[in-house]
Amino acid sequence: MLISNSSTVSSDEAIQINPRLRIEIFREQCPIAAGEDVINGLTQTPKTLPPKYFYDDHGSLLFEKICELPEYYVTRTETQILQNYASEIAHLTGPCELVELGSGSSTKTRILLDAYQELGHPLHYLPIDISGGILEQSAHSLLKEYPTLHIHGIVSTYETALKHLNPSPLPNRMIGFIGSTLGNLKPEDCHTFFAHVVEALQPGDYFLLGVDLHKSKSILEPAYDDSQGVTAAFNLNMLRHLNRLFSGSFDLSQFEHLAFYNEKEHQIEMHLKSLKNQTVELKTLNLTVEFQEGETIHTEISRKFQFEQIQAELKTLGLVSLKNWTDQNQWFGLMLCQLQDVNA
Ligand code: TRP
Repeated sequence: MLISNSSTVSSDEAIQINPRLRIEIFREQCPIAAGEDVINGLTQTPKTLPPKYFYDDHGSLLFEKICELPEYYVTRTETQILQNYASEIAHLTGPCELVELGSGSSTKTRILLDAYQELGHPLHYLPIDISGGILEQSAHSLLKEYPTLHIHGIVSTYETALKHLNPSPLPNRMIGFIGSTLGNLKPEDCHTFFAHVVEALQPGDYFLLGVDLHKSKSILEPAYDDSQGVTAAFNLNMLRHLNRLFSGSFDLSQFEHLAFYNEKEHQIEMHLKSLKNQTVELKTLNLTVEFQEGETIHTEISRKFQFEQIQAELKTLGLVSLKNWTDQNQWFGLMLCQLQDVNA
């Protein structure tokens, strides 16, 4: 009783699409509706915008294209690590509900689902994504591919979804946060994020984390500024998304994508640079913003890590590292952690 109440009462909409697919949508808790974060970001100096505005349906499609770019080694490398070690992961965890933060097209998830399926484990998948379109589409394809799979999707921010997870239908849960999305969180937000993850786990549950590792600038910069301009289009699409959400007047041809590696901070920094002095209005936010020529809006960071650094931080929250995997170049890392039983 309590279980169904906690999810249906608080979500804005919960749709049982078929016996194996249920999708919950949390709109109100999602600050995206209010736009306060846009006002805050654009009235600061230097100007910033929250990265979640990248991911409208078009942005999610552009991101899928980034993942296939020759320069963007991240997806290929992580996929290879998963292909090599998914079966070891499934053996280590046993049957568990797979929760995925930022599931997108769920392409890499299939490698994990295959591994659990091969061991004959029941398949319960809980994708969480801010873009409802891509979540629903991926869910339908997955159901066709995996006849025993059950999907409970949540359309919301990570934070809201983690707060509203029901108990796992299987003996354990594994929260997956792959694709190096951790790198997109500022250091001060990382700790809060990990704390939310821990709250959604029971002792003995797992956390699977994909992290991009330190490497040279000559590999990093092209990965975030590709020769076909897909990353540029993705960055600029944020302005189109804001135009649609808030009746805005951003002229995309008057801004330029800028990405560089800050070696001291070990992070890629992404900006949108104004190509002239201009005024932009966001009508429904009652906001008028002035830009100087050359002024930038900071849209994203992508931090690069070392295993030891993250392991130490996770340990302070009771998440103990079970095993780390990497590729032959040691470009990318996959970490499996387990929440310690404090009473054990
Ligand atoms: N998680 C991805 C990363 O940090 C996100 C990303 C890739 C991204 N390319 C981008 C974000 C370009 C903004 C712009 O690698």
